[in-house]
Amino acid sequence: MQATVPAGLDRKEAEIYLRLDPKRLPKHIAIIMDGNGRWARRRHLPRVAGHRAGVASVRSTVETAARVGISALTLYAFSEENWKKRPKSEVDFLMGLLCRYLQQEVPTLNKNRIRLEYIGRQQELPPTVRSKMEWARQATAHNTGMVLTLALNYSARSELVDAFRSIVDGAARNGGLDHLEIDEDSVSRHLYTRHLPDPDLVVRTSGEMRLSNFLLWQLAYAEIYVTPTLWPEFRGAHLLEGIAEYQKRERRYGGLADGHSDHHSPKSVRS
Ligand code: FPP
Repeated sequence: MQATVPAGLDRKEAEIYLRLDPKRLPKHIAIIMDGNGRWARRRHLPRVAGHRAGVASVRSTVETAARVGISALTLYAFSEENWKKRPKSEVDFLMGLLCRYLQQEVPTLNKNRIRLEYIGRQQELPPTVRSKMEWARQATAHNTGMVLTLALNYSARSELVDAFRSIVDGAARNGGLDHLEIDEDSVSRHLYTRHLPDPDLVVRTSGEMRLSNFLLWQLAYAEIYVTPTLWPEFRGAHLLEGIAEYQKRERRYGGLADGHSDHHSPKSVRS
């Protein structure tokens, strides 16, 4: 029996979708959007033109992910390092772009039943940006479909520092350090991503093979898919290609391959 293609996919997306097993879709996909600057440079345009073009890629990727039934999509929009190391004019441009994206996109997010969330140190963002973010979050809070999380002023190491501080503060407020309990569950519950399952798949565009301080705890067992496509050229079809690649991989979480009979093998590999 031919699988049904979800409504709204274009012809190329539908073609790739038909190669997928809809029962084994990743629940949570995280994306490191990279290559805006290089895309612009190749066209002799200013860097910010790459960021502007990247918004169409965000739109296409978000809509396709929601249409095929991904439960959570997390986009690395600006790292903490981006704030510190880029010219103020570029940072200001990115802020404005984010505000315009939020303003324009809320109706489409609602139409696609997408709920917006954020991770990162929001308190360090300009107040006008924070209020736009809060407005968009509240305007989509009732949606029950995909959770779209934007990582803004995000650093995985800062997230872990904040989690440990919050665990210690919690214990101090609750009877003192004798009540300090730290295990993997308690760390996960204090991360910014406590509302999400760990990503099954992380995608990075523009061919770079780094995690760049993104979700270091949460990506412990994620499959990594690196595509040479620069972010401004990335579309829903590229996301589906990444999912097709993910479905070819075998996830073992440190165990042995299915059908491996020698359970006493000293060579059991960590993967
Ligand atoms: C990396 O490219 C991209 C960014 C730092 C910004 C990402 C922002 C967008 C895609 C647009 C706005 C986002 C939203 C959510 C509306 P780079 O500048 O590091 O590229 P390069 O490595 O080629 O220089």
